Amino acid sequence: MPSSKSRRSPQSPAKTPSVVLKSSEAKTRPRDLLVPTALPIHPFDQIHGVDTSGLVPARHLLTGHPNDEHITAYYGIAPSILRALIDRWRETIPPHPISSYTFVDVGAGKGRGVLVASEYRFRKVVGIELNPQLAAIARTNSAHWIATHAADPTSEPIAPIEIVEQDALDFELPATPTLIFFFHPFEAPVLEQFIARIHAQLSARPKSRSPVLDLLYANAECANILDRHPAFTQLFLDHVKMTPEDYAADLEAIAQQKEYGSTGDEECAIYRYTCRAKGPILKPAA
Ligand SMILES: C[S@@+](CC[C@H](N)C(=O)[O-])C[C@H]1O[C@@H](n2cnc3c(N)ncnc32)[C@H](O)[C@@H]1O
Repeated sequence: MPSSKSRRSPQSPAKTPSVVLKSSEAKTRPRDLLVPTALPIHPFDQIHGVDTSGLVPARHLLTGHPNDEHITAYYGIAPSILRALIDRWRETIPPHPISSYTFVDVGAGKGRGVLVASEYRFRKVVGIELNPQLAAIARTNSAHWIATHAADPTSEPIAPIEIVEQDALDFELPATPTLIFFFHPFEAPVLEQFIARIHAQLSARPKSRSPVLDLLYANAECANILDRHPAFTQLFLDHVKMTPEDYAADLEAIAQQKEYGSTGDEECAIYRYTCRAKGPILKPAA
């Protein structure tokens, strides 16, 4: 997601609307100021022959689902940001080998994040996408990606890919260690419910099976939700830079947005589900 130039939370309007609006529901939010763009074609698409470019505002993604209200937009992650974030995650010494993790891109859009993640030796890469048209594009992209990798004897093996057309709040965690990826797919009300759901699923597991869940969050606009959740521990929070090629593509795409800017990086965070209450450690009564 491009960042609002003011880098404010999507909860607050980026600027005061010039028109006085009667209904509080009709307030202008940063996402409402986005304009659709099909161009430029990102270098990732030019190299791999896939279709992940463009910016699709939330109002063009309506499915009739109640959570449409909180979609941010479709915009593919800069490949260099996701690679850097996965590399940074590996430096946190995850408790299991990468080959046992299921990577789940929650809000997978056209599947750019899924394709990039499949370059790593994950057990499986899953994309969850609410919008049927975007999910169909992600499936076509994945099929092309798998076929071209299979046909190239020099290419490294890629992880199996699955695209699921589903609301994030219906998602059931796999039984394997899981690495969730968000590229700011939805606003705080859905993120809060999503986190509560996965916490409930993990808490319900037998005590003998230690829950293994890490979370990567790019354009971490609602990181405060995870920061204040007692079961998650922040392992990393910083601006991750994109490559000059990705920055050039980002600048060209974002130049068409009045309220949004590209700074050549994304604020990213990494969390581990530690299932422990934070806060003061209480001494037992003497
Ligand atoms: C910023 S795009 C990210 C695309 C992809 N993760 C990537 O990085 O290339 C966010 C996507 O989340 C999807 N989304 C928003 N709310 C959702 C929900 N409740 N359930 C599933 N997908 C959702 C949107 O339709 C959009 O395609």
